[in-house]
Amino acid sequence: MILAVLLGVSGGSEVRGADAGKGKSKVEPTLRELAKKRGLLIGAAVDATALRTEAVYRETLGREFSILTPENAMKFGDVHPERGLDTFEDADAIVAFAGAHGMKVRGHTLVWHLALPKWLDETKLSRAELAAVLQEHIRTEVTHFRGKIYAWDVVNEALEDDGTPRDTIWRRALGPDYLAEVYRWAHEADPEAKLFYNDYNAEGLGVKSDAVYALVKGLKERGVPIDGVGLQMHLLGPPPPMADIAANIKRLAALGLEVHVTELDVAIQDMKGTEAEKLAEQAKIYRQVLETCLSQPACKALVMWGFTDAHTWIPEVTEHPDAPLIFDEAYRPKPAYQAVREVLAE
Ligand code: XIL
Repeated sequence: MILAVLLGVSGGSEVRGADAGKGKSKVEPTLRELAKKRGLLIGAAVDATALRTEAVYRETLGREFSILTPENAMKFGDVHPERGLDTFEDADAIVAFAGAHGMKVRGHTLVWHLALPKWLDETKLSRAELAAVLQEHIRTEVTHFRGKIYAWDVVNEALEDDGTPRDTIWRRALGPDYLAEVYRWAHEADPEAKLFYNDYNAEGLGVKSDAVYALVKGLKERGVPIDGVGLQMHLLGPPPPMADIAANIKRLAALGLEVHVTELDVAIQDMKGTEAEKLAEQAKIYRQVLETCLSQPACKALVMWGFTDAHTWIPEVTEHPDAPLIFDEAYRPKPAYQAVREVLAE
């Protein structure tokens, strides 16, 4: 029972969202129930601290979603704050919560140029030593979670906006063909996990999504174990044309790849109009993105970068207040939540 409380498992969930406490008898279906009928995984990124400290956070998350992504807990710097130290506590807690609620987990992320610890810079490692550090990181982390991760974002953001390879510590250490190598390492450590390439500004059609396409096509053709592409979908301004997103998913699908929307959020700070108009516009965008994903059989999961405006990275990255998610700061469903529910129920 104590474990059940810690994991946020409850006997039933009759009291839900907007109806909580109002004594209504009608129980609305949750997003995950509706999504299941559509063959879609619906998910959210998880803040390990909120999961530990807020009951309403756990309750909402456990009720509505069928797939989780640790927002930061699996990143290199979070897992290896000191050289030779592996700290999996936060990630373990998220994976345990997912397991207790019958949810899948997206592992995020193994090879990225950000979220790196200071010791990596300070120890002035040679290229060969850095290559060994990355190989050991992938082996250790993927093995630690073997059998519990549905899909890994093996590589995150390896391309610049103009489609050229990003010059990163890992590329410099391993050489220009490093991607082929890191997918093989991940595959060895967990042959069951689906392996993804994840990036931003590559959702629609354009020079960057062309480069992502060419990259994953090349890997596929060479027999590198890659199963899918993640479209982050941080929408800070007007979204790309939905027809372009659909066409992009379609061409990736033609390579035999799965597609996940991995980090959807819809900022409202630059929208025009009243608060209500902004929230309606936001709902429309959530609706369109979900409809686009559902229109493409290869689009198997839609994950938002959080679910409550109480925990979102957008104000931090834009240095401006915002409300980009589907529940407000008090965990009340917003128009965007209703839009998502309506589309899933169709
Ligand atoms: C962000 C987190 O949301 C923040 O809490 C953290 O400070 C920085 O990273 N693309 C990604 C995510 O792939 O890992 C990033 O997450 C957001 C952009």
